[in-house]
Amino acid sequence: MAETAAPAKGTRPDDVQSEADASRKVREMFTQIAPRYDFLNHLLSLELDRLWRARAARHLLPILERPEARVLDLCCGTGDLAFALARVGSAQILGADFSHAMLLRAQAKDGTSNASGGNPPGVRFFEADALRLPFGDASFHLVTSAFGFRNLANYADGLKEIHRVLKPGGTLAILEFTEPPPGFAGDLYRWYCRKVLPKIGGLLSGNPRAYKYLPASVARFFRPDELASLIGGVGFDSVAYQLWTLGSVAFHTGVKL
Ligand SMILES: C[S@@+](CC[C@H](N)C(=O)[O-])C[C@H]1O[C@@H](n2cnc3c(N)ncnc32)[C@H](O)[C@@H]1O
Repeated sequence: MAETAAPAKGTRPDDVQSEADASRKVREMFTQIAPRYDFLNHLLSLELDRLWRARAARHLLPILERPEARVLDLCCGTGDLAFALARVGSAQILGADFSHAMLLRAQAKDGTSNASGGNPPGVRFFEADALRLPFGDASFHLVTSAFGFRNLANYADGLKEIHRVLKPGGTLAILEFTEPPPGFAGDLYRWYCRKVLPKIGGLLSGNPRAYKYLPASVARFFRPDELASLIGGVGFDSVAYQLWTLGSVAFHTGVKL
């Protein structure tokens, strides 16, 4: 009997034929929702997204406090994690994303005030694909990604690319949604994500597909221990993770030896 291949772990949008196709569809989707992205992020997360990024930044403070530290925020979107990192330290922060429309919004926010305590000036943004970064080997002390890694067309290649651009001793930090375990809180979360969030997001963004993709991609993404194994598998050391907000958000870290 022919062996049935296990379904590939991945969060690709429906109907994609290849990695290139998946990347193109994801880029188009974020480009379409860019004008409403920040507003919907804050609304649909009940403003918790601001707390998650601030909490991630606090965890990374020992690196961010060093003025010589070079930090890359991958899949930076409209820049909110990059600004959260800049707010707490004095490191040089670069943001990279492959959606031009998201980056334009990030650039426009540089040096502006907001509900999180302002966007410090000086964060630099680059258009780049996380799977083919235009940076030399061993360029950064810290590479972060918030709610972006899940969208990559190839996770192992993404991690290898992060590993390549990190300096020895450099840190990887990934903030991602994850499905909480079964139980009242988890079931409530799933009901909200599957029934409420796609309706509000679809209505207010004009792109129902994007807000159906969000919970579907979280459901198909790695469980936290699986992601930790993958990170360790590409050569990171001291891999660890924490679960926040009823287990709906995971914060993974690892160190390049
Ligand atoms: C959900 S948004 C997250 C944005 C931001 N980090 C935040 O915390 O709000 C995901 C971002 O990942 C970007 N992205 C997805 N795949 C990418 C890739 N291969 N290279 C660069 N950016 C990518 C998208 O363009 C989008 O801006």
